[in-house]
Amino acid sequence: MLFKPITWVKKDPEKSNVFWPSDELKKRAWVNADSIYVEAAKDRVAFWAKLAREGIDWFKKWDEAYREEMPYYKWFVNGKLNISYNALDRHVKTWRRNKAAIIWVPEPLDEKERVLTYFDLSREVNKFANVLKTLGVKKGDRVGIYLPMIPEVQIAMLACARIGAIHSVVFSAFSGKSLQERMLDAEAKVLVTVDGYHRRGKQITLKTEADKGIEGTPIQKVVVVKRMGMDVNMVEGRDYWWHDLMKNADSSCEPEVMDSEDILYLLYTSGTTGKPKGVEHHTGGYAVQAYWTAKWDFDLHDEDVFWCTADIGWVTGHTYGCYGPLLCGATMLEYEGAPNHPQLDRWWSIVEKYGVSVFYTAPTAIRMFMQWGEKWPRKHNLNSLRILGTVGEPINEEAWLWYFNNIGGGRCPVIDTWWQTETGGTLINSLPGIGPFIPTVAGRSFPGTNHDVLDESGSPMNIGEGGYLVQKSPFAPGMLRNVWKNPARYKEYFSVYSEKYYTSDGARRWDELGNIRLTGRVDDVMKVAGHRLSTAELENAITSHEAVVECAVVAAPHEIKGEVPVAFVTLRSDVEPSDQLIKDLIKHVDATIGPTARPDKIVFTNELPKTRSGKIMRRILKSLVRNEPIGDTTTLMNPESVQLLKDEVGYKE
Ligand code: PRX
Repeated sequence: MLFKPITWVKKDPEKSNVFWPSDELKKRAWVNADSIYVEAAKDRVAFWAKLAREGIDWFKKWDEAYREEMPYYKWFVNGKLNISYNALDRHVKTWRRNKAAIIWVPEPLDEKERVLTYFDLSREVNKFANVLKTLGVKKGDRVGIYLPMIPEVQIAMLACARIGAIHSVVFSAFSGKSLQERMLDAEAKVLVTVDGYHRRGKQITLKTEADKGIEGTPIQKVVVVKRMGMDVNMVEGRDYWWHDLMKNADSSCEPEVMDSEDILYLLYTSGTTGKPKGVEHHTGGYAVQAYWTAKWDFDLHDEDVFWCTADIGWVTGHTYGCYGPLLCGATMLEYEGAPNHPQLDRWWSIVEKYGVSVFYTAPTAIRMFMQWGEKWPRKHNLNSLRILGTVGEPINEEAWLWYFNNIGGGRCPVIDTWWQTETGGTLINSLPGIGPFIPTVAGRSFPGTNHDVLDESGSPMNIGEGGYLVQKSPFAPGMLRNVWKNPARYKEYFSVYSEKYYTSDGARRWDELGNIRLTGRVDDVMKVAGHRLSTAELENAITSHEAVVECAVVAAPHEIKGEVPVAFVTLRSDVEPSDQLIKDLIKHVDATIGPTARPDKIVFTNELPKTRSGKIMRRILKSLVRNEPIGDTTTLMNPESVQLLKDEVGYKE
């Protein structure tokens, strides 16, 4: 056994499982001693400046590494670079030219994988960059990307970056209406989409959703990848096939010289209001954080095969399914389909077939595999795995240990990475060569970053105590720089505690080493199967149905998905509740947001519990679905509503 579990001083029974890296892992790791944290903390700006010099090729060096004018900050001021140059050109000049950059695995078993070497990828990106130019895309223009997990998604992203266009990727399982909302806000000029794709044995048509999403937006041109050969509607003069445009495109396109603080991409994410926000990531700092976190968190070496299972529509897909590994010159695996198609061992068969060595997924997936049983991973030789990662939501101890033992064979550290769409790259996790690896405890702040856990008044918590997680100056280089067209929402991150970035996450300081346990969101944002969802957005979607008068959505705990939305719905007086209506409401949510937002349960009620001033008491609804003590209801306008709801949700006193 490479990993020796050591026993912590058992003051607290929760602290019994603590793992440290083996000598073998330490020897191989890029970083393997605590001194890295000490060195970084001496001068964090100087530390990042050193990483920026060593990790990224700059066309022109910066004048100043960090400048802060709260709530704004800049990294590598006046530095010039191009991230696609760093992800492609610099590798193509070396022996990596014919190294696999992307191994793409289609869902149908009878289709062959596609391997794109760095040279192939570079050629495709250059060509598509020229295509975008011929479609009139210029530096600073926004390009929407609504694609599933096919290599064209990375090609399109990198092509945008090459010419300085700002990409805005929209999750392909989001509805056309969600796409439209984002494209309107981003004022995108061009959209890249697909005819359709395979998912769990089904053929999904995406072009029809894309057509809905384009309506009323400034999108003038649409590029359609032919993945399936489906018969789709193509609008003359607006829609073009990807392969037609690529046929004669020039395979060399000079990379645009980008300022370190030029916008690289927008990624819409859910906040506490009904409208998603366009998180802005800028080029230089993001490149530096993506490169070093990919390299150190996953101890990425040239011989590794890195598989991040996250969809490209989420930030994890952006940073660890595209930019990070490619900046490192790594080989990345990309899989089109579902984990359970055609059988429950599909993922493990892929790990075995391609010798995946670093595997990064979400706790929800792990819990799903746990439920399906050990026999599925056992069918496969998973000895190629060296490092396991998890992200997106708190991981429970049972799932952590199951992953560690059944997937990692007790050899591989589990790197539990805490971060957010806003932070651009990972921030709190243990490093493979340093440890410790403690189930449910993400780890320490990445070298050069600085977090704290505070109480409501802003005082730091003691070890063992829970509070609110914040990040302190200097803010990590990959952090958001703004919210697109909405600086007021950006400023909110820095207004809860002065001079600090407020994460909206609960956390507990774990030990004197600086390890931190994350305990979940403290705002009205849910993590449903790791997907970020705002209760307000879902409430808006449900109330926009003609039968609904009022609705409140709260998160209920769920064994596999972590959390699921439960919707309390008041209907118009002339509408009767029925199973059909539940189906209609779910269909309506699918069409408004997408199937990932589907409520797990819809509870019809004539009255929602309200304060005397008419405000819905979500706190009570939360307690009801969590089976927690409800507390005082005497101040309610309608305390009797609570009793009725107790019966509806099966609340046990
Ligand atoms: O609550 C935290 C949770 O996911 C939130 C961020 O969601 P999103 O922007 O979709 O980004 C997810 C992928 C980076 C956080 O506020 N979260 C993320 N990672 C962890 C986590 N909670 C606990 N442990 C984690 N490792």
